Amino acid sequence: MPHIVFDKYNKKLETPSKKDGVGFNFVAKSFNFTQKKRNTEYKICAFKDEKEFLLTLREKDESYLLKADKVTRVSPLHLIKDALNSYASSIEANITFSNTHNVNQKVKPNQGYLKDIDYFINDFETKREIQIEIGFGSGRHLLHQAKANPDIQFIGLEIHSPSIEQLLKQLEIQNIDNILVVNYDARLFMEFIDSNKVGKIFVHFPVPWDKKPHRRIFSNAFINEALRVLKLEGTLELRTDSRKYFDYCTQLLTNLSTGKIVIDINKDLPISSKYEDRWKLQGKNIYDVTLFCNQEDKAIDLDYDFTFKDDINFDEIIKTISTKAIVGEDYFLHIEDIFTIEDKKDSGLIQITFGSFDRPLSKYILVENKKAKYFQDLPLPTSSNMKAHNKFKKMLKA
Ligand SMILES: C[S@@+](CC[C@H](N)C(=O)[O-])C[C@H]1O[C@@H](n2cnc3c(N)ncnc32)[C@H](O)[C@@H]1O
Repeated sequence: MPHIVFDKYNKKLETPSKKDGVGFNFVAKSFNFTQKKRNTEYKICAFKDEKEFLLTLREKDESYLLKADKVTRVSPLHLIKDALNSYASSIEANITFSNTHNVNQKVKPNQGYLKDIDYFINDFETKREIQIEIGFGSGRHLLHQAKANPDIQFIGLEIHSPSIEQLLKQLEIQNIDNILVVNYDARLFMEFIDSNKVGKIFVHFPVPWDKKPHRRIFSNAFINEALRVLKLEGTLELRTDSRKYFDYCTQLLTNLSTGKIVIDINKDLPISSKYEDRWKLQGKNIYDVTLFCNQEDKAIDLDYDFTFKDDINFDEIIKTISTKAIVGEDYFLHIEDIFTIEDKKDSGLIQITFGSFDRPLSKYILVENKKAKYFQDLPLPTSSNMKAHNKFKKMLKA
C-alpha cells in the first residue's frame, strides 16, 4: 500500500488548510488509550473529490511513517496517494522512501463504475437480474461473464485496490458497461442487497485461510445472507483448489435445512482464471460446489437510527470510559483508542470496533462542539451494529 517515510520536517501542518487540491481538516493525537501502542500516532483528516478520510502518521525510532488509515477506506487509490504527497509537501518533509507517485497511465481506469457502499444502501436500483462475483482478482471470469450476458447487471467485489484499478481499465478498453465494482468486504456487502434479486453468486478460488478460519468468505451467516438475496433457483457457486476449504463449505451447506447442492470435480469452464491456470499446471484437482436456492425470502428493512442525540463532554469521557470489551448475546463493542484534536478543546476521535463477532466493524466517532457523529459514514445498517450503537450511546450518555 502507498506510504511515505521521512526523517525530518520543517513545518507543522496548519488546519484547516488546502494544498495541491487536498484539504486537511484536523490532526488528532493518539491518547494511547489501551497502552498497546509503543509509538506516538496521529490521525490526519484529509478530503478530496468530496471524500473525507484519515491518514496515519506514526513516529518510529528516528523516522516517521505516513500511510492511509486502515479503517477509513477510500477509493480510488490515487486519492490516498495525492493526500500523502500533499501532506508531506505541506510540512516540507525530508522523504527517505515513497511509493506514492502516480505513474502516467496510458489508459485511465473508468472510475464511473466504481461505487461506494452508500450507493448500494441508498441509490442502487435495477430491473435487471443481478449477478455477483466475490474476490474477482484479475477479473478474467467477471469480464467474460459480463460480455457473454449483456442483460445482467454484474457486481464485482474486491478488497485489493490494484485488482480493482486493473478491472476498471479493462472496462474502458473493452467498452463494458454492465459491471459495478465495490471495494468492500464481501462478507458484509450482501446485507444491503434486496431479497430475491440475485441470479448467481460466484466465489472462485477464495483465500482458504486455513490458520484464520474466521476470515473465510463462507460461514453460516454468509450462506444465509446469500440464500436471502438469491432468487428461486439462483446459485451460490464455489470453485476452489483447496480440498480443506471445499470440505468445510460442503459441510456448512449440507447442514442447511433448505436448498440443494451439486458437487463437481475438475469441471471445465469456458474461462480459466489466473489462479486456476496455476493450479492446473501443478496438476491439482479443482472442486466445485453449487448451492441452489429453493425458497423466497422476506424483504429487508434497513431503516436504523445511528445518530447521537445528547451533548457529549469529551474531556470527561477520556477519564471515565472503559477499555474492556463489552460482549452482548449477538454483538460486541470495544473502545480501541481515543485521539484528541490538537488546539481544540473538548474534541477528538473515538475509535471503536463493534457489531457481530464474525463480521466486526471498525469506525471513528468524531466529537466536536459537544456533538458526536460517525466519521466518514454511518455504520452499516445491521441489527448487531444497531445493538452495539445503542450500548455505546448509553456509555456516552448521548
Ligand atoms: C486467491 S484470489 C482469487 C482471485 C480470482 N477469483 C481468481 O480466481 O483468479 C482471492 C481474491 O479474493 C479477494 N478477497 C479476499 N477476501 C475478500 C473479501 N472479504 N471480500 C472481497 N474480496 C476478497 C482477494 O483480494 C483476492 O483478489
